[in-house]
Amino acid sequence: MRSTPARWTAQRLTGPDGGDLLPPAMPSAQATARANVNVALVKYWGKRDPALNLPATGSISLTLDQLSVEADVAFGGGSEDRLEIEGAPAEGEEAQRLVRFLDVVRGEAGSAARATVATRSTVPRAAGLASSAAAFAALALAASRAAGLRLEPPALSALARRGSGSAARSIFGGFVEWRRGERTDGRDSVAEPLAAAGDWDLRMVVAMTTRAPKSVSSRDGMARAAASPLYPAWVAGAEADLAEARAAIRARDLEALGTIAEHSALKMHAIGLAARPPLLYWRGATVECVHRVWALRAGGTAAFVTIDAGPQVKVLCGPADAARVAAALETVPGVERVLACAPGTGAEVLG
Ligand code: DP6
Repeated sequence: MRSTPARWTAQRLTGPDGGDLLPPAMPSAQATARANVNVALVKYWGKRDPALNLPATGSISLTLDQLSVEADVAFGGGSEDRLEIEGAPAEGEEAQRLVRFLDVVRGEAGSAARATVATRSTVPRAAGLASSAAAFAALALAASRAAGLRLEPPALSALARRGSGSAARSIFGGFVEWRRGERTDGRDSVAEPLAAAGDWDLRMVVAMTTRAPKSVSSRDGMARAAASPLYPAWVAGAEADLAEARAAIRARDLEALGTIAEHSALKMHAIGLAARPPLLYWRGATVECVHRVWALRAGGTAAFVTIDAGPQVKVLCGPADAARVAAALETVPGVERVLACAPGTGAEVLG
């Protein structure tokens, strides 16, 4: 393999004579990969470049076990991409987004070959959890392999980011920071691990509430948030929030990490409330879950909420408290199912 000066530069697999081992248009170059979802503790909420998914601020997340997406990608043959999600053909905007992502991979590989893609998810439908982070992390790994590229983790993270910003973080397990970066080409806007899954045993208890009618996508929500009068304060506070979360992870201090995670989530949702038109992802069950967690905390349980672009509530707590937190959330009207996840590992090639 030819080495390249920049670690994140795409490398094409080459033989001893420098020729391609896997000519890009050659059929049946295929790979399967799996990646876990992640939940942000310091949120990504705003883009400085929507085309490249470059964030306005850095973010920090925890990759979870149990909730993953597997992607098969094969290049070669056919005149158009064949795309299947959970056994059904991809359609509309979802299909276009996949094709745009495959075009990025083809661009990196110097290939015009069409792809056959199939994805399978273990994320329960009722979870209402955006599985796009896991999906694009798995796709970045499978598609780059299938195209004959061997990408270093930072380059893989940058590639996954092109599909969905938060996918940059699902390349890695455990606690992960996605750096904002400064470059306009995004090469330095990549994620890196802060602590591995096995380094700190925590739980993220996910309360799956009834699925509300179609909500606003993260992309559209972020666009709306950018015009909120609270948005400048969000950006101005990001570095301090990140520093606080980093320090808490380094010190394995749940109280400190939970406090900053809850603050980041509530601040993110406050931006939407102040936007015109307003944006509110919460339902009644969401609010009730928050109050249950606060009541537990008043009783001495170290449990902290975080909420993403939907009505689900995720609660960070220690392993010994997960059953108590789950039991409290299960009785909230509107909560359909509760799942306690431990830290999960990074994206991996399955074949
Ligand atoms: C609230 O990564 O789904 O979950 O880059 O437009 O695909 P796109 O957005 P996405 O946004 C995630 C937003 C969030 C916070 C987070 O995960 O950091």
